Amino acid sequence: MGFVTNREKYLEHLKGRPVIDLPTPSLVANITAMDANLAKMNDFFAGPGCKLRPHFKSHKCVTLARRQMSQSNTVGITCAKLSEAEQLVLGGVHNILIANQVIGYDKAARIAEMNRNAAVHVTVDSKHGIEQLGSAARNAGVNIGVFIEIDIGMRRGGVQPGKPVLDLAEIISGTAGIRFVGIQSYEGHIITLEDYGERKRRVEQDLKPVIATKKRLEQKGIQIIVSSGGTGTYDITGNMEGIDELQCGSYVLMDAAYKKIRPEFENARCVLATVISDQKERITLDVGLKGMGAEYGTPEVLDFPGAVCLGFAEEHLMFRGIDASIGDKIRLIPPHGCTTNNLYDQMWITRNDIIEDLWPIEGRGCLE
Ligand SMILES: Cc1ncc(COP(=O)(O)O)c(C=O)c1O
Repeated sequence: MGFVTNREKYLEHLKGRPVIDLPTPSLVANITAMDANLAKMNDFFAGPGCKLRPHFKSHKCVTLARRQMSQSNTVGITCAKLSEAEQLVLGGVHNILIANQVIGYDKAARIAEMNRNAAVHVTVDSKHGIEQLGSAARNAGVNIGVFIEIDIGMRRGGVQPGKPVLDLAEIISGTAGIRFVGIQSYEGHIITLEDYGERKRRVEQDLKPVIATKKRLEQKGIQIIVSSGGTGTYDITGNMEGIDELQCGSYVLMDAAYKKIRPEFENARCVLATVISDQKERITLDVGLKGMGAEYGTPEVLDFPGAVCLGFAEEHLMFRGIDASIGDKIRLIPPHGCTTNNLYDQMWITRNDIIEDLWPIEGRGCLE
């Protein structure tokens, strides 16, 4: 087909053909499995209580975020970075929580700018952050909704529950241009505990001070929401009285590491690779660290569950136990999906192993 320089041409050329016709390495999502994951999570939030604010970090694809927004129990999208929020707003997503501190006046001004035609909330844990946001909001003539982050044990960001939150709340109420909308707390230090009973016990224990802080604020006449949780705790945190939104991300595409503790969601994403060398005792594939997030181990090989990974290089993966020949295409389930999506410009969409669409990954490399 010659040189392919644009997405439309690429798709036109490959649409309707079998997935193994894709050039490799390619990031591929099975839309049937993805929609089953979306439906399962949406059903969980069907009741009157907690709702879903899916995390963009897990796929960074605006088309998929819009698919999540169109679900009945989604209230908005969570993201980690200001530049991800900009991509979401550009793509028509207008209710966002940046669940992270954004520091620097220029960045605060970009958040204010987005708030001209979208509700882009942001997390704070300092007077410094509050003052910057307030100043940017006043200069832009907008009002920014802020969430105070509480650290419940992850030791990443956030203030301690109780008085430190009440103190920040007071600073917010005295700062023109911003309003106190909620508390953000993420149980990342215990979200993937293998033992479900232990995970439940720890989550309930560690989130108790957050609920107590919410109650103290209510006693002072301050009504706020609590945003928390993730895929590993959706049916724990999502059932707790006082929790209003959950920030689940991984459930939609899953990965090899998360599947071990959440088998009810399907691995909807794979990386397609080609066997480029066969040295009998070792098969080499054309994808490595530059095409696969490897923080949580090695990938699973879809059709060869007994395959053993012998090495992970920049552009190569070496395996024993794959019965294949040079030129064969192999499907790998990434060990860590979030960092894998961050490595690709686009995600191929397939149905029944036939290529159906090509979705851009706009949030790829959005680190600001
Ligand atoms: C702030 C925040 N919320 C929620 C999540 C949950 O994501 P997941 O559903 O992948 O566990 C994460 C993951 O890192 C996070 O950083």
